[in-house]
Amino acid sequence: MTKNPLRRWFGRNESVTELGARQSKKEENDANTGNHSSGGDTGPTIRALKGDIASQGVDVVVNAANERLGNGAGVAGAIIKAAGPGLLRECADRYPDGCPTGEARITGGHDLPAKWIVHTVGPQWSDGTNGEPELLADCYRNSLQAAAEIGARTVAFPAISTGIFHYPREDAARVAVSTIRKFLTQSDHGINEVILVAYDCEQLTIYERFLEAEGDE
Ligand code: APR
Repeated sequence: MTKNPLRRWFGRNESVTELGARQSKKEENDANTGNHSSGGDTGPTIRALKGDIASQGVDVVVNAANERLGNGAGVAGAIIKAAGPGLLRECADRYPDGCPTGEARITGGHDLPAKWIVHTVGPQWSDGTNGEPELLADCYRNSLQAAAEIGARTVAFPAISTGIFHYPREDAARVAVSTIRKFLTQSDHGINEVILVAYDCEQLTIYERFLEAEGDE
């Protein structure tokens, strides 16, 4: 029997077919509303906007989760509230062991406009010498890899670790932009748009500055 290559992203009794079937209604809606980024010959794009991660009408929204994949505040609170009670049930059922820092796990989008949620756990900042940049890069890379493997074309990220986990915003944005750029140019994937969702103007300005810079700052 062929091993399902997507199995590692899912928990107990799960298959991508089941998850895909559940998303078909959202796809129908998307087709009717034109809620997809345009593909195109120009290659994948990264852009920043100011908004609420839970309202993004994309294929995948990324959750800044905790290792239990349980209730939280900030991004996790907004996503869990908007997705409805089924999300925490799905997390507990599929991922009873939670998710280690730097890794990623997939669930359906439930009542969100997004089709799927990729849950990733960012590092808690102490002084930057405890592997924080590597772990934060792992979050972006593993989330994009998970999104690519379920066929996502559009992915929206919050500023992982920069809230309750106290990662300095500039340092985190540098890791985010350089890791996403590297992934989009080096990996075989169908992602055509990554959106960096800033919750306030200061964060948006930071993202815009890094996005305008050609190479890594
Ligand atoms: N949409 C977009 N961005 C948001 C939203 C939102 N609805 N709410 C907060 N933010 C921003 C914050 O301003 C911050 O810049 O997202 C960034 C990440 O903040 P947190 O959600 O606190 O995430 P993090 O620092 O990774 O801490 C994760 O917080 O909620 C708990 O359970 C979670 O223990 C985990 C920890």
